[in-house]
Amino acid sequence: MPAVEKALVAAHQEVAQGLYEIEVLAPQIASGARPGQFVHVRPGGTSDPLLRRPLSLYDVDQELGSITLLYKVVGRGTELLSRVKSREYIDMMGPLGRGFTLPQTGQSILLIGGGVGIAPLIYLARVLKAQDCTVQAAYGAASLQDAAVYQRKFQQLGIEAWPATMDGSLGYQGTVVGLLHQMAPAIKIDMIYTCGPEGMMKAVTDYAQSHQIPGEVSLEETMACGVGACLGCARKLKPEDADYAKVCKDGPVFSMDLMA
Ligand SMILES: Cc1cc2nc3c(=O)[nH]c(=O)nc-3n(C[C@H](O)[C@H](O)[C@H](O)COP(=O)(O)OP(=O)(O)OC[C@H]3O[C@@H](n4cnc5c(N)ncnc54)[C@H](O)[C@@H]3O)c2cc1C
Ligand code: FES
Repeated sequence: MPAVEKALVAAHQEVAQGLYEIEVLAPQIASGARPGQFVHVRPGGTSDPLLRRPLSLYDVDQELGSITLLYKVVGRGTELLSRVKSREYIDMMGPLGRGFTLPQTGQSILLIGGGVGIAPLIYLARVLKAQDCTVQAAYGAASLQDAAVYQRKFQQLGIEAWPATMDGSLGYQGTVVGLLHQMAPAIKIDMIYTCGPEGMMKAVTDYAQSHQIPGEVSLEETMACGVGACLGCARKLKPEDADYAKVCKDGPVFSMDLMA
């Protein structure tokens, strides 16, 4: 059952231009949290904006009862959130949605992130490491500053990570899809998890399916209720599907088999 908590802000900082990390104490939400799930945040603490904003669990410490989120300021909600200060409270509902299916212990996993879509893959990486999986990551970053944030986090988790930047300022020059095609043939991959722009996830899904590698994608959709009650996030997973999926409740994580 999701909880609604007044989450105490323990730390909040701009880690790269327009990219923020916020750590809150929300023990009820943290205790039930699984990688790939999200929280629904009321950014201003008031009814303006009316709708909560969904953000992925970037990291969770269940012993401490803390949750960390990583977000980009893109509009009013995230801009309001960026103004919240340490020791203030934010209204948070969660954990919500269907998270990643965890693989068997000891498997070789490739995580592929695009931009801030890397957020849910970080908590997943922590859990996979704890179950003795070999975890490697490839990600695309919009800037050198953003890449440095992601790289540092993967390093802290002891995960080998390859960056891709369009200007080549760090790692592979080009998209993370180009990087995937270059690196993947040389490594063992039992399962791929991806989150980022839809076009990127489509290309990753095509790669995985053409190499018979199972995988999961984490989708982003505009949300209202966040709990499956309003159809605000309903979409077809494939254009030819007759049925609509509710991204907030049936997802946000879906098997690649449902997407291709
Ligand atoms: C399950 C889920 C998990 C998510 N996790 C994260 C996360 O961990 N970190 C994170 O930064 N975001 C995440 N998002 C996206 C985040 O919810 C939106 O960026 C946020 O709701 C935007 O709210 P806003 O009020 O700032 O912008 P709005 O005022 O709602 O939108 C402002 C403008 O930004 C555009 N916009 C909206 N969302 C995005 C986006 N994601 N990227 C680029 N442009 C966008 C809109 O089309 C509009 O033009 C997630 C979304 C979902 C559905
Ligand atoms: S946001 Fe209401 S059903 Fe998904």
